[in-house]
Order: sequence, then structure tokens, then C-alpha cells
Amino acid sequence: MSLIELNQIKVSYGMVKALNGIDLMMNSGEIVCLLGGNASGKSTTMKTILGLVHPTSGAIRWDGHEITTWPTPRRIASGIASVPEARRIFGPMTVEENLLIGAYTCRDRHLIRQRLAEQYDRFPRLAERRTQTAGTMSGGEQQMLAFARALMSGPRLICMDEPTMGLSPKLVDEVLASIADLNRDLGITILMVEQQAELALSIAHRGYVLATGDMVLSGEAAELLDNPRVQEAYLGRTIANGETE
Ligand SMILES: Nc1ncnc2c1ncn2[C@@H]1O[C@H](COP(=O)(O)OP(=O)(O)OP(=O)(O)O)[C@@H](O)[C@H]1O
Ligand SMILES: [Mg+2]
Repeated sequence: MSLIELNQIKVSYGMVKALNGIDLMMNSGEIVCLLGGNASGKSTTMKTILGLVHPTSGAIRWDGHEITTWPTPRRIASGIASVPEARRIFGPMTVEENLLIGAYTCRDRHLIRQRLAEQYDRFPRLAERRTQTAGTMSGGEQQMLAFARALMSGPRLICMDEPTMGLSPKLVDEVLASIADLNRDLGITILMVEQQAELALSIAHRGYVLATGDMVLSGEAAELLDNPRVQEAYLGRTIANGETE
């Protein structure tokens, strides 16, 4: 049985159609990469899984339950976590306060303390900075905090929206290695939106490609790496942003 399944999901923002009936499924333990150009619906797909955006039609199944109408906190409590776009850490708050927010759906104080200790163990740099204001940390440290905060809810699935955005090439490699570690060491299933297709597919098992709200391609990571249409989706982004030529 798949861990999560999106069936024919449609999402609109007023007149704007963001998703035109997409299908996506993930097995437990997979790293799946969601690729696509600007405005193709990648973040909307993530937000739909988290319940931050509600589909006009279609269904989401999670761990055998239909969760399409579940509110976000219930989804988080049941094992879905997120590392949102632009990290969204709480800058004026300390590292520890940020981590505790990640456990907001958990009522068990002992468990919260245990999870906090686990994060400090996994990310010693956060332990050294537990009282530091999060906004004063480097980009790489803030990304580490965003991962640790997601882990505080004890997730089985983490949705990561462009986790390497704005990081230097060296840090990008570190973040991708850290994602692979979470998957391998903790068995966490990961759905990752990434603009750097080649890099993302190097750690992913499978991938999907979105184009203006339609899922146009999916397959094993190695297959997608060889596919010219993946390059197309990737170029779509760079040209739109004026980042090349
Ligand atoms: N809150 C919103 N209100 C209105 N339209 C929205 C909203 N959020 C997203 N959209 C629109 O939905 C479409 C898909 O947006 P989405 O953010 O999912 O794309 P994306 O693939 O994540 O793009 P990017 O690569 O730029 O992050 C876009 O046309 C966008 O303008
Ligand atoms: Mg996005």
C-alpha cells in the first residue's frame, strides 16, 4: 500500500487554475522529487498535501485514510511535516523556541523533551545555538533548523519546498546529503521540490514533472535524468527568471 496518494487533484485560486487534476503517489521510504518551471504548481501541490490549500475536486489518501478534508494540525499530528518555501523560521525567536513550535501538535511533554534532545544530537550546531536568535544564523544553519523543526512532530513524510534555495553550492551539497541521511537513517519519506533537477535527482528515487498544473512526466530518477523534457522544464525556469543569457 502506498503511503500517500493524490488522485485527480484540482486546485484553483479564484480564477487561476493551479492544478488541473494531478495524480501523485509515494511509497514509504522513498525520496521523490517534484520538478517543474515557475508557477507550474509545485508549491501548491505541497500546500495541498499539508491542508494549507483545499482542492476543488480529487482525493488525498494518507496511510490508508482519506484525509482530503482534514485540517492541517490533524495531518501534522498524523505524521506529515513540512519544510516550507524560504524556510519560514521565526527570526526573532530563539533556536529552541523555533524547535518547540515544530512540536505544537504534541501534548506529551516528555516526548517533546526527547525529540528536542534528538535534534540537538543530530544537529550539534543547533545545540550550541539553542538560545541564539534564529534570524541571526547563517542560511545553512537556518535550513538545518527548518529540518529539525519539521522532525519535532515525529513525521513519516516531510514535504520540502526548495530546501536549497539561496544556498551556496557547497551548502547545497550539504543540505542534499542531510536529506539523504534523514531518509536512510530515520526511514522518513521525502517529497522535495527542487529547481536544480540534476542535483535533486541524484539523491531521489523517483520524480514527477509538473507543467502549468499538469503532471506531464514521472519515472525513476535515473530515467528522468536522461529525459530531454526534464531539461526543458528546467530551462523553462531559468529563461523565465532571466538567469541565463
Ligand atoms: N495565494 C495565491 N493566490 C492566487 N494565485 C496563486 C496563489 N498561490 C499560487 N498562485 C498561482 O498558482 C500558480 C501555481 O503557483 P505555485 O506557487 O504552486 O507554483 P510553483 O511551481 O511553486 O512556482 P515557483 O517555482 O515560482 O515556486 C501560479 O500561477 C501562481 O500565481
Ligand atoms: Mg514554489
